[in-house]
Amino acid sequence: MQNHKRPPASLIFIFGGSGDLNFRKLSPALYNLFIDEWMPEKFGIVGIGRTPYSDEEYRKRLLDGIKQFSRRKGEEPNGHWDEFSQHVGYLQMDAEKDANYDKIYDVIKSKEAEIGEHPNVIFYLSVAPQLMPDIAKKLGVLKTCSETATTRIVIEKPFGHDLKSAHELNQLLLSMFKEEQIYRIDHYLGKESVQNILSLRFANALFEPIWNRNYIESVQITAAETVGVEGRGGYYESSGALRDMVQNHILQLMCMIAMEAPVSFEANEIRNKKVDVLNAIRRISKEDVNQHAVRGQYAEGWMKGQKVPGYKQEKSVDPASPTETFAAVKFFIDNWRWQDVPFYVRTGKRMNQKTTNITIQFKTAPSYAFPPEAADTWRANRLTISIQPEMEVRLRFQAKRPGQSMNLDPVDMVFNSDSKHEPEAYETLLLDVMEGNPTLFMRADQVEAAWKIVMPILETWESRPPVDFPNYTPDAWGPEDAEALIARDGHNWITMPPTQ
Ligand code: BG6
Repeated sequence: MQNHKRPPASLIFIFGGSGDLNFRKLSPALYNLFIDEWMPEKFGIVGIGRTPYSDEEYRKRLLDGIKQFSRRKGEEPNGHWDEFSQHVGYLQMDAEKDANYDKIYDVIKSKEAEIGEHPNVIFYLSVAPQLMPDIAKKLGVLKTCSETATTRIVIEKPFGHDLKSAHELNQLLLSMFKEEQIYRIDHYLGKESVQNILSLRFANALFEPIWNRNYIESVQITAAETVGVEGRGGYYESSGALRDMVQNHILQLMCMIAMEAPVSFEANEIRNKKVDVLNAIRRISKEDVNQHAVRGQYAEGWMKGQKVPGYKQEKSVDPASPTETFAAVKFFIDNWRWQDVPFYVRTGKRMNQKTTNITIQFKTAPSYAFPPEAADTWRANRLTISIQPEMEVRLRFQAKRPGQSMNLDPVDMVFNSDSKHEPEAYETLLLDVMEGNPTLFMRADQVEAAWKIVMPILETWESRPPVDFPNYTPDAWGPEDAEALIARDGHNWITMPPTQ
């Protein structure tokens, strides 16, 4: 990880150029980079899709997306758009036809002629997973892809559907590209608040000495969303919460919390330390899946006063669907630092709040020297790192209640970054791709190690269809079994802002 520099000339092709991700995330991110003067001085962006658009129509569509979804929405464009949009074009093509790839070559040549140098060529694949291998194969044979220092391929999630397909996709990509050309995205790694975990842990003397099994009782990660499947029923039916959130985002958050201190911020050093965590996560045997994992699916009900459909009633969803929209798992990491410390993770749609947070629960301090009444309000220390909606770090400790008696209260010390202008994850990640810095991207072995962890749960769930779906109401915190999963160990899920 280094501080950013303005990247060299770049030409970005976005497969899935007329799709939702480009509209909501990629174009707003590129536009914000432009406003903040992080785009290269010379660049081009080419959307690729089947829908017919003229350049003008395409730009107009992107501008609509930017107005709705950019973090700067509501701000005056100040003339930036006119200049930015001159760099944006559209290429209508059927990505399944070989002959069409010549068009890409022509665009690269004409860009070279226009700017007087060979730019970085970036292929961003934001397409349905089943199209990924075929497009990668067709790109791989282009001459430009043998220019390993300047040509890169970005692969959106999902990266495979299971361990086998992820391994096959890796094999295919690695037969066409070098690992350093391949950027596998996990957008959580681009979030400011996720990167802040590294600063918190490794730029302070305070935490690292107690960041282990001797002082930490348990760790929790919650990634909750209020939305349902938002019209993505077709995709979600082949995914489910475990694949959609746990295999990637949540396991990556676990890595950030559990990894050993890196000796440098060099990409492979950080990624090695993360892979060590993934490899140390205890495999859950199929017999133990019921003890360690809970699944759920939302019923129809009410969300903040609005009637919402159940998952089975969502568009493109099988009315008898066994797909989980909630997952909770108890993991252990078998190494010296974490042996026997449970990591409880949960994620779900249609939950009570949109919040992602991590809580480090410390062991209780001995209370025998204090009067017995003090023990009534005695609470162990805990550190909560909120990833979103706001970046916040909250440390709970005991303090004396002012007065003549020795009464104690748990109090919170809070750091809230309160930044209105922090870059979105996709801004950071796109800038990294243009600069050629893969630190925040998944390496082949990282993705496969993460699949290995969830496979026994997936296979067990697939072989035993759920009998109680739907089993949670919207606007709450998931099924009762998820409470039982953690209560069995004497803990409870912590919601933010804290109530206990
Ligand atoms: C995506 C999932 O990877 O992450 C979505 O496919 C989910 O289902 C999204 O809604 C959540 O991302 P964020 O940044 O809003 O927490």
